[in-house]
Amino acid sequence: MLGTSPIIRALRAAHLHDVSRQDLLRLACERIRGLGAPFTSVYAYMLHGDELVLEAFAGRLTEHTRIPVGQGVCGTAVASGEDQNVPDVTAVGNYLACNLETRSELVVLIRRGSTILGQLDIDSDVPAGFTAEHHTTVKAIADALAVLL
Ligand code: SME
Repeated sequence: MLGTSPIIRALRAAHLHDVSRQDLLRLACERIRGLGAPFTSVYAYMLHGDELVLEAFAGRLTEHTRIPVGQGVCGTAVASGEDQNVPDVTAVGNYLACNLETRSELVVLIRRGSTILGQLDIDSDVPAGFTAEHHTTVKAIADALAVLL
């Protein structure tokens, strides 16, 4: 997996040093973005009732700081209980655009058992940017976060 282990080690070390939840999520976002293309911008949305709330990010600012479950690619992931790998965001009817550069998007749920805690949402400027290996890489990080949060 694409450099996952150093990221998970860094998250565990930060957790041992009692960093805040927001700092842990920000570290995850920054380290994933640090892998380079196709990871353009990384957002940690956490579930609060029936809304996803942006708690940390690395990369471009977004106006979508709260997303109702069921809306957009992010809300669809929670409503369906399925990660979303969207190769072409322009082909998605309910896509919530943050900017004009994003071409593809990967949403990986952060789950603890059957409970969805939130998600890592990743935008890419690369068309069809995310492979199954990218998905596996991000899922390992999401699974690590689920234990540490
Ligand atoms: N594109 C997402 C919204 C979040 S921004 O990409 C950061 C969606 O359709 O849900």
